[in-house]
Formats: sequence, C-alpha cells, structure tokens
Amino acid sequence: MTVLDTKVVRLTTDEATGYTMFQLGSFTFRRDDYFAHISWPKGNHIIEIDRFLRATVRDIGWGFFYGWIFFDDVFGTTNHYGTVDVFAGSYDRGCKEAGIDFLETFHAEAVAEAFQAIAQDWISVGYDPLNAPLETGSPIGSKGPERTDPLLRAFIAADRMLGLPGDKPVRTEAAGFPINRAFADLDYDSPDIECAAGFEGQLHAINLFDHIARSDVTWNPSISAVAGGNICCVTSEEHMLPVIHGNDRNEWFIQLTDEIHWNIADKNTGAPRGRIVMKAGDVCAMPADIRHQGFAPKRAMLMVMENGTPGLEARYASGELKPYPVDFG
Ligand SMILES: [Fe+2]
Repeated sequence: MTVLDTKVVRLTTDEATGYTMFQLGSFTFRRDDYFAHISWPKGNHIIEIDRFLRATVRDIGWGFFYGWIFFDDVFGTTNHYGTVDVFAGSYDRGCKEAGIDFLETFHAEAVAEAFQAIAQDWISVGYDPLNAPLETGSPIGSKGPERTDPLLRAFIAADRMLGLPGDKPVRTEAAGFPINRAFADLDYDSPDIECAAGFEGQLHAINLFDHIARSDVTWNPSISAVAGGNICCVTSEEHMLPVIHGNDRNEWFIQLTDEIHWNIADKNTGAPRGRIVMKAGDVCAMPADIRHQGFAPKRAMLMVMENGTPGLEARYASGELKPYPVDFG
C-alpha cells in the first residue's frame, strides 16, 4: 500500500458563490449552491451538499471510525488506523465495471486536515450539520460568514464519574442544554445514592436518559465509555445517519427508546441483504461484512458497543473470525 505524503491544497475561489475549491492528492472538491463535486483522474461525482457536509463533519469527528464510511454509494473513506483511504467507486459494482473506480491512501491527519478545511470554508453561520435537520438552517446557496465556533464537538475527557465534584459539569437547562422536544415525555428521576461511610464524594450516579435527552447533536456520541478494548457510546439519533457505515468488526446496538430502521447491504457490492426495524429494548449485532444506514423517524436513543482491540479488523478480513458473533442452533 502506497501512502501519499501530501496535504490539502487550496485552489481557486469561485467569485459567484464565494466557495473555495480544494485538492487532496488526485481528488478535487468543489461546491456550488446545491452540490459538492468530486473529481479524480478517471471520473467525477456529485453529492447533495447537505449530505456531503453532514458526512464530512462526522467522518472527522469520529476519527474515521471503524472500517468504511460511505458518504453515498460511491465516495468515502476507509480507516486503516494511522492511514486512511479516500475512494470513489471502489465498492460500487457499476463504477468498477466501468473502470472509473479510484483510491488513494493518505496519512490520517492529512485527510482530517483536508476535510476540516473544506468544512470550514463551505459551512456558513446558521447551519450546523451535526444538528437534526429540523433544528438547523440550510447549507444551500452562496457563502455567508464562516462559523467561528467549533464545527466539531470534540471529545471532552472525564476525570471522574460524571457529576462528581472536581469533574466536568453535567448538562443542565441552565448550561444551555434543555431536554430535547422529542424526549419531553420521559421520566427523569435521579438515582438514589447510598454510600458507605468513608466513601462520600467517591460514588455517584446520573440518570443517563437525562444526559442523552439534552444532546444538541445527532448521530454523534453523547458519552463514550472506554475500558481497554471495550467501547460503549450512547447517542441520540434523528433523521438519517448521514453516512453508510461499512463494518470491519461486529457492532452491537441496543435500542434505548423509540425506533430506528436500518438498511443493510453487502459491504463490497452494496447488494441489499436485509432490513431491521429496532424498537425500544431490541438488541442486534451488525456483522463485520456489511454496510448499513439508519433512519430515525423521531429522535431516538441508541447505545452502540464496539470491540476496539487493535488488529481485529485483520482477523475478520482474513476469515479467521466469522463475520457474526453467535451461532444459533
Ligand atoms: Fe456500523
């Protein structure tokens, strides 16, 4: 695998729209009022701008996540944990048969820097691609003032149990985090904490629903609990997952409230493999050889569990491990 030692380049700025064109390796990225245009030596592609920007900020914010991030059926990234492929058509049967598929590998920081530069230039005040569509403005049209607040919600590391003295404050109404309109009907009792003498100030508990219900972003973790290779994320989801995720390992979903519909397809070809409607209390394991996209008609809470053990992706890719976690029967 050749890793290109190159960085993002700013090209011309369009006088009519105000947006700048960017280049990373052999890929160029241009936007107009409605669309992102991506070109590479053998072809080009067009993506609706809202979808492109919602995918871009999550791809950077998730650190390229596990495996494949498809912005749509054609364009996306693959995480090799240190390096990242940027591909067009490499996992689309039609593009491959036409011979226009293309892939380049970069250092992960170079791709993050490129996507950050594009997002900064192409996002204007009044639009936040991490918000649910009903809760933000539109990215359509010419360039407005650039946003000066952080485009991404960076991870904030807790030092102690959330809410214990000395750690970060929990989300509250007063801190600008009201309960989301979709979760107004939930109960938010605080847990009883009975601490043995001598351990005061060392034991704490919060109502997790109260925390997730105050999240101002969608399809982006509210809390990530990491213990060794075990990763547990809770999120609030509304509208559609702006990317199609191709797994390189199993991924467990526990539906905490409401429902999410999932389209599941073969990772390499995109051929449909199934549909799942997960309702509150449902648990499923997404296999290691699929791509999937979720749709939440109403804001829903989801818990996602991953095994972050380094090298696991190679053990699934080689067939050493089955693509699913359990044999029934
Ligand atoms: Fe996934």
